[in-house]
Amino acid sequence: MKKVRLAVLGSGPRWLSVDNVYPQHPDVEVVALCDIADGAVEDAAAHFKASMGYEPAVYHSYEELVKNAVYDAIMISVDPDIQVEYAVAEMDRGIHVMTEVPAAYTIDQCYSLVHAVRKNGVKYQLAEQTRYWYFIQQWRAMAEKGEFGKIYYAEGEYLHFEPKWDYFRNKKTGHRVWTDDPSFDKDPDYERTWRYRTFAEPIFYLPHELSPLLSITGGRVETVSCVGTGIGKSYMKEFDVQDMECALMQTDTGVILSLRAGFTCPYGHKRETGAHWYQIKGTEKCAEWARSTLDTPKLFTAGEGWCERNDWVCSDPNAPEEFKRALHGGADYYPMYYFMDAILNDKTPPMDVYRAVESAAPAILAAESARKGGVRLTVPNFRV
Ligand SMILES: NC(=O)c1ccc[n+]([C@@H]2O[C@H](COP(=O)([O-])OP(=O)(O)OC[C@H]3O[C@@H](n4cnc5c(N)ncnc54)[C@H](O)[C@@H]3O)[C@@H](O)[C@H]2O)c1
Repeated sequence: MKKVRLAVLGSGPRWLSVDNVYPQHPDVEVVALCDIADGAVEDAAAHFKASMGYEPAVYHSYEELVKNAVYDAIMISVDPDIQVEYAVAEMDRGIHVMTEVPAAYTIDQCYSLVHAVRKNGVKYQLAEQTRYWYFIQQWRAMAEKGEFGKIYYAEGEYLHFEPKWDYFRNKKTGHRVWTDDPSFDKDPDYERTWRYRTFAEPIFYLPHELSPLLSITGGRVETVSCVGTGIGKSYMKEFDVQDMECALMQTDTGVILSLRAGFTCPYGHKRETGAHWYQIKGTEKCAEWARSTLDTPKLFTAGEGWCERNDWVCSDPNAPEEFKRALHGGADYYPMYYFMDAILNDKTPPMDVYRAVESAAPAILAAESARKGGVRLTVPNFRV
């Protein structure tokens, strides 16, 4: 069978973390890398050659890539708040597209993605991978068998502090600066990165919570309200960021979701999942991930009480080696596996365009709710 020729737009840290994982797929050939930052794509090509043994062609702008490269599919891993424009342009050219999280930053962008997939009939997938963690698969199987009883509540958090994030980008070279120094803001040679912009409204970054939780509860989020700790009151002095935003959501099936996100204040990590944490409450059972590195995942059963579940882990012990080797507890291989499965076998990927926008739109409206003092907002149904 002919290999799927893959191009990559944006060869930054995310691509570099999967560039020896995704191409392990036997049906993938990475033919082109493209990045606008000085030297980034050359470095990425050398990094790729060192692990995979061959060198893709390199390009320095989207326009140059489109003009010169021939490919069937593209992975887009540029700034997430600008990626939809590229995704739609590529789908309009008949190219299969995988984008990174979050899928979109505006409701209009959500509709653009949906319309592009419907119009062009190409495959689109969001590369959200936490939904493939083994314990999430186990909780999903429990929900499908009705073992939770009626699920009425789910909770998730993404609290990921780094002392120095890449808050700034050099306008000329495109190089990002990992710093805790706010003075770059006053330097005309630098601009704020998408991460800085996102950390002002951290609730935008919820795909790794909404995607796995909704895959267990079923349904889609219908209403949202949210509050935050306030811009300018952060642990990171002189940064226009908020330490936490906290959203309450309700699905069309009545499940309440409590979700929070923050990136700029120290938080304790959890066993295996690092900055992520999850809980599912049903009328019969409650499943809870470890709250720290000291405790274990736990199951509560009415009548029997709590028990520790050491068999709930991130990496599927029965998965093939190429899955187990991947980062994020083995989850990082799944998006490429399902993207190729969709393209080669004409299937709908698990994280299709509807699930993608359903993991983005509630977060977009949560940010808007917080800006409006916590008002409850209604999420459109993109499936109608
Ligand atoms: N799924 C995950 O676990 C995970 C983890 C980290 C990041 N991400 C996502 O991956 C994406 C990229 O993250 P990152 O950390 O690499 O971001 P980054 O900002 O560090 O890197 C983005 C890269 O894209 C390049 N770029 C920007 N605009 C471009 C354009 N128009 N054409 C070509 N190149 C362009 C930049 O020069 C940079 O090298 C984001 O959407 C992020 O949310 C996902």
